Amino acid sequence: MLNTLSKLKDSLEKRNKENVLRSLNPEKQGIDFYSNDYLGLAQNATFQEILLKEINQQPHLLKGATGSRLISGNSNFTMEVEAYIANKHKVESALLLPSGFVANVALFSAIPQRGDIVLMDEFIHRSVRDGLRLSNAKRSKFAHNDLDHLEKLLKEAKGNCFIAVESLYSMEGDFAPLEKLTELAERYNAFLIVDEAHAFGVFGYGLVAQKNLHKKVFATVVTYGKGMGMHGAAILGNQTMISYLVNFSSPVIYTTGSNDFHAMSIKKGYQFLENNSNLSQKLQENISEFRKINLPTLSDVQSPIQILPMRNISSAKKLQQHLENKGFLTFAAVAPTVKEGEERLRICLHSFNSKEEINQLTTIIKEFI
Ligand SMILES: Cc1ncc(COP(=O)(O)O)c(C=O)c1O
Repeated sequence: MLNTLSKLKDSLEKRNKENVLRSLNPEKQGIDFYSNDYLGLAQNATFQEILLKEINQQPHLLKGATGSRLISGNSNFTMEVEAYIANKHKVESALLLPSGFVANVALFSAIPQRGDIVLMDEFIHRSVRDGLRLSNAKRSKFAHNDLDHLEKLLKEAKGNCFIAVESLYSMEGDFAPLEKLTELAERYNAFLIVDEAHAFGVFGYGLVAQKNLHKKVFATVVTYGKGMGMHGAAILGNQTMISYLVNFSSPVIYTTGSNDFHAMSIKKGYQFLENNSNLSQKLQENISEFRKINLPTLSDVQSPIQILPMRNISSAKKLQQHLENKGFLTFAAVAPTVKEGEERLRICLHSFNSKEEINQLTTIIKEFI
């Protein structure tokens, strides 16, 4: 016991020395340029009123699920909402999960089988990699958004081949070339899986839906903790794939279901996003405002995530602290969240940021770098 604890302590001390120790800190006060609440739904009073009204009218929505969805924990309402979601995304089936992390682990641990291979973008989210650690499939990384590299790996691949990408990369703020990826997948009979965590809501129901690629993508993961400001996720795809998950995916089977309030709030979230498309327009205006000053960002002109490369951990952290002292909350992404030597400042833009706030932020950054 003592030996184990001292090993844990050593690892923490090593992190501390390297200036990358993580800790859970009290909530910060300041102007939000770091949350994933891109459209402000997490704090939207009108949306909260809608949810409250539903709870008041139907308090049974708060009843605990009481068991696994395969035993006592399923509900007709959750299944209705899953059918509603599938219909919105024009796919056969949708499966609700408590978070995007769980959805990716559920999908990637179960679907790729022994003898299969998963080719993943080098910057794919940790949840995909952790899911694959529970799978018997082989895995290999291709250079970020590098279609030539991917094609080379596809040519060499044996067995069923899956390609795993994010439509909008969370630590780069750039997009996957989805159309070209679907062409490659088609040419090599590979199954494309797209994580839409950061695109959902910001770009309608996500880029797969917006680009009408749903028939060419094997599975899509949309999450409800970012553009929708809540939590949860859905795996979207064909009925056989979803049935397979219900039969073989541990994170679906061996866990208590969510209550109906979760499903209800997601359904109301879809409706709210549909009725408030001005929010994503406002977000795009704010992104353009941010880009006016020409900071050396690596990110796409339409991305709500704007990344500024930093020289090292210390300069990333110093800039974050400097901004925080002035009342602006951003995030210094350092190893192991990003590769060592690729430290960066991550700025998230929102529909609710004012032009003045954005201009103040960019001016402070420009003066600092
Ligand atoms: C690309 C990507 N996928 C999945 C997730 C996990 O989603 P959730 O926060 O809903 O667990 C995240 C979260 O940061 C993400 O960035």
